[in-house]
Amino acid sequence: MAVATPVVAERPPSLDALLGLARSDMAAVDELIRRHMDSPVPVIPALADHLIAGSAKRLRPLLTIAAARIAGARDEACLKLAAAVEFIHTATLLHDDVVDSSQLRRGRVAAHLIWGAPSSVLVGDFLFARAFELMVGAGSMPALEILARASRVIAEGEVLQLTRAHDLDLSQDVYLEIIKAKTAELFAAAAESGAVSAGASPERCRSLRKYGQDLGIAFQLVDDALDYSGDAGALGKNPGDDFREGKATLPLLLVMARTGASERDFWVRTVDRREQTDADFERTRELMRQTGALQATLDLARTYAESAKVALADFGASPWRPALEDLADVAVARTA
Ligand code: IPE
Ligand code: MG
Ligand code: MG
Repeated sequence: MAVATPVVAERPPSLDALLGLARSDMAAVDELIRRHMDSPVPVIPALADHLIAGSAKRLRPLLTIAAARIAGARDEACLKLAAAVEFIHTATLLHDDVVDSSQLRRGRVAAHLIWGAPSSVLVGDFLFARAFELMVGAGSMPALEILARASRVIAEGEVLQLTRAHDLDLSQDVYLEIIKAKTAELFAAAAESGAVSAGASPERCRSLRKYGQDLGIAFQLVDDALDYSGDAGALGKNPGDDFREGKATLPLLLVMARTGASERDFWVRTVDRREQTDADFERTRELMRQTGALQATLDLARTYAESAKVALADFGASPWRPALEDLADVAVARTA
């Protein structure tokens, strides 16, 4: 008699398991965020609330909670660290939207278009300062060190990107260095600081850091693909920002390399000199489809997401492990 092969139902990637496990922690984190946004200077809570109450996914603080809990944390230090991580993230977004002249963030008009760039930058500084107050309150010097270093590395990544933004000959190595610094470092530090605050072993801290870093790289690769293929309604920010800025992200580097000399003049005009029409963006999207530049970017994101999952190998039977594996899959499959 033939032995029937059990049919294993393919689970579509979803954050439900992770959000379920973290529900009460994340409610407490939201409460901390709300309380620490407050200030007697009225423009500060108004502007901060505009951004923080937008359609945020809260992935980074979720990572801090998950890493702390999978590493056995029983106390509440990770809640303050998670709130600090979200404040660091929102501070960098306020600054980033000024730098990138972006108009839409988290489904809302960018704060600098309502309150002006000076207020946006200064409230970003306020949120950074709040993050440091929360980190000190969490009482873990090693966690403070990890997140302080991440704040510095993010700034370095943003400046590096600014100075190399429309370099047609940017290497893929430098591109990866930029996204590791500006994006993956906070994912890595979010996870590592959670693990450290839980008193996890150095190997487990390293594994969770690696999970966060590879997840963050995958996340930014998809972000860069969505800037050419996404939809403003779903994304909550406008696709086309990177092209308009002449930002040399991987899809653009690949399409430039794959179209060769025949299109060189087109890239010099649109990317280097940033003389563009709407039709140029459409043409670029078409060339990306034809050359497989978008698919190659997503394939690389998939490779990093798989590597992130491998980093969880020694977390045994914890229910957090499949939930974090799902997060890696969601990071690649996402359209928003
Ligand atoms: C944002 O990078 C990274 C930080 C805020 C540090 P991008 O400029 O590429 O991201 P979006 O598209 O504005 O979110
Ligand atoms: Mg930006
Ligand atoms: Mg930017």
